[in-house]
Amino acid sequence: MSEDDTSRSGRFWSRPKSKWLIGIPLGGFIAFGLGAVALGTTNYILHATSSTEFCYACHSHEAFIKPEYEASSHFVNVSGVRAGCSDCHLPHDNWFELTWTKAVVSLDIIPEMMGKLDTAEKYESHRAEMAEAVWRQFKANDSKFCRHCHSVEAMDLEEQNRSVARRHSRAEERGETCIECHYGIVHELPEGADDIMEGIVAEFAPETADSVD
Ligand code: HEC
Ligand code: HEC
Ligand code: HEC
Ligand code: HEC
Repeated sequence: MSEDDTSRSGRFWSRPKSKWLIGIPLGGFIAFGLGAVALGTTNYILHATSSTEFCYACHSHEAFIKPEYEASSHFVNVSGVRAGCSDCHLPHDNWFELTWTKAVVSLDIIPEMMGKLDTAEKYESHRAEMAEAVWRQFKANDSKFCRHCHSVEAMDLEEQNRSVARRHSRAEERGETCIECHYGIVHELPEGADDIMEGIVAEFAPETADSVD
């Protein structure tokens, strides 16, 4: 039996016939090691760039973003759970999506340097288009960043006002998502927010087929 074992393990790892061939597994190990180091560094960067402090590097704007956020129920609440910028704005369930999003966010260094958002007036003039971009993203991904913390299953619907509980329990079957009822919970709303949201919801609604018989 032991003889059989040896031959089996012999088949599994046999010394390469040429000494050059040893370079293949060795190269594999080196590549693996370098990959691990690179991944560690990337993860370090991903982590560091997920903090609210990092977002504040550009979005600290004492006059607008910061006070709005810090006055919101997602900054201070009875439960003591704080949602940071990245909890609502970055994916957490998909490493590739996170890395890709970070790469795209880092391009914002260009408009930032050009001073696109450096005064409250400029910010206001872009707020509607920026908010719309976020709403579209949330409508498209079924408010998945909100669901990272909230879920209808975990809601004590009995404790909610009857009509609110009904809206929550029916939302799913009606194809409604959190953001279309709960916008402007952290940031102030741009002018015409309701119309913009209505337009997005209509756009996403399944075609009301005119040819249905
Ligand atoms: C290098 C500076 C910089 C950093 C760091 C930065 N942003 Fe931005 N961000 C900008 C600029 C500039 C814009 C406006 C971009 C545009 O519309 O062209 C923007 C736009 C946005 C928008 C509007 C949505 C959109 O797609 O236009 C959101 C949301 C946002 N940033 C969130 C964040 C979050 C969350 C962080 C931290 C993880 C962050 N940003 C870090 C500069 C930055
Ligand atoms: C990091 C976790 C987290 C994320 C992400 C999050 N929330 Fe919350 N949310 C909370 C906590 C904690 C409270 C406060 C609970 C309490 O009342 O003590 C809260 C409260 C609320 C409330 C009730 C208070 C109010 O301001 O009206 C609403 C509505 C709400 N969240 C909706 C959302 C929506 C919509 C999103 C996505 C845009 C979201 N939340 C993302 C944790 C989170
Ligand atoms: C059809 C509209 C609608 C949808 C969709 C909806 N909600 Fe609500 N929700 C309401 C209304 C109305 C209230 C009561 C007023 C308020 O707090 O804004 C409410 C209240 C809440 C509250 C506070 C509950 C309380 O009693 O304090 C939370 C938290 C909340 N919603 C989270 C969510 C989340 C998370 C989603 C997505 C899974 C969601 N809602 C989807 C309409 C909706
Ligand atoms: C609870 C979730 C939540 C948190 C926390 C949050 N945001 Fe937002 N953010 C949103 C939503 C939802 C929108 C879309 C507009 C709206 O509904 O107010 C938005 C919009 C924005 C916009 C577009 C312009 C605007 O004012 O609407 C920027 C920029 C932005 N967020 C940056 C940030 C930064 C920076 C932080 C941290 C300081 C942060 N957000 C924290 C949910 C959040």
